[in-house]
Amino acid sequence: MKNLQTAVIGAGLMGHGIALTLARAGQYVAVTDPMPEARAALPARVTDSLHLMGVSDTETAKILKRIEVFDSVVGAVREAAYVFEAAPEKMALKQAIFAEIEASAPATAILCSNTSVMPITEIMSQLADKSRALGTHWWNPPHLIPLVEVIRTADTSEAAMAATMDLLAGAGKTPVRVEKDVPGFIGNRLQHALWREAVSLVERGICDAAAVDAVIKASFGRRLAVLGPLENADLVGTDLTLDIHNTVLADLENRAGPSPLLQQMVAEGRLGMKSGQGFHAWTPEQAQALRAKVVSHLLALEKLLEG
Ligand SMILES: NC(=O)c1ccc[n+]([C@@H]2O[C@H](COP(=O)([O-])OP(=O)(O)OC[C@H]3O[C@@H](n4cnc5c(N)ncnc54)[C@H](O)[C@@H]3O)[C@@H](O)[C@H]2O)c1
Repeated sequence: MKNLQTAVIGAGLMGHGIALTLARAGQYVAVTDPMPEARAALPARVTDSLHLMGVSDTETAKILKRIEVFDSVVGAVREAAYVFEAAPEKMALKQAIFAEIEASAPATAILCSNTSVMPITEIMSQLADKSRALGTHWWNPPHLIPLVEVIRTADTSEAAMAATMDLLAGAGKTPVRVEKDVPGFIGNRLQHALWREAVSLVERGICDAAAVDAVIKASFGRRLAVLGPLENADLVGTDLTLDIHNTVLADLENRAGPSPLLQQMVAEGRLGMKSGQGFHAWTPEQAQALRAKVVSHLLALEKLLEG
């Protein structure tokens, strides 16, 4: 793939991973962040993530040479062919950042927001040229999770969609088109349909939280990385799938809003790992051990699936 100039706005958790992924694929990446500490920490943060992924010192040094840190948006986007915004999840802030990007980036640059849940259409609503604006929803950690959802608004051109799909595929990601700007895109809609039922099972006293997590991890969770639900429906037969849906769907949770149990937990300060108690009890060591296990699992899975 041709070497391009890319820009990443925001050098945090997502921004550093997006930058290292693009730089590892041979792109030049200009990163900016208004916080001096975030800018200063970027090389070490990228180095740590690359080392965790088993990248050698020599290769890491080459990747770092392709990442340049700027103290302004103007400097970072001046020559960019693509701009990835990974700033805090605040609508007015993102709109102001894109106004600044539009004023400073080449007129041909493709402008991408990494928002988790906010409508791309609203983030881009004040741009003069909305045809080159879209969503690229990377998942955390962006250098370890292959998926990037590429979200089209009603104004996004096919050329901008296709070019972004190409760039991301060339960088080793698994880009997937989301043809309408709907809340949660694809991944979070699927994920939270499952979480809604998970919370409901506990709320209804059908099982405890440990049972919910054990059932998923010890059953279909094992297959999910290689067998998607619609592949699975074909595997068992759409006729069997219809029979199952005829029996079970009417009993599944379908309330429009969040669970009262979840609301009560938040009101009582049972916030999960950060407060030591959520659906489960957590010591800081247990929380850290699980975070580390997720990373080592993702690394092992990548090796396994590559083979
Ligand atoms: N963390 C996740 O799991 C995850 C997953 C997918 C998408 N996202 C989205 O990615 C975006 C970034 O999230 P994050 O987790 O990296 O947050 P983060 O807090 O780790 O990083 C945000 C960075 O943006 C910087 N920043 C603050 N104001 C800025 C400005 N005006 N211009 C540019 N940068 C600015 C901050 O200094 C910080 O370094 C958010 O929209 C978030 O919703 C996060």
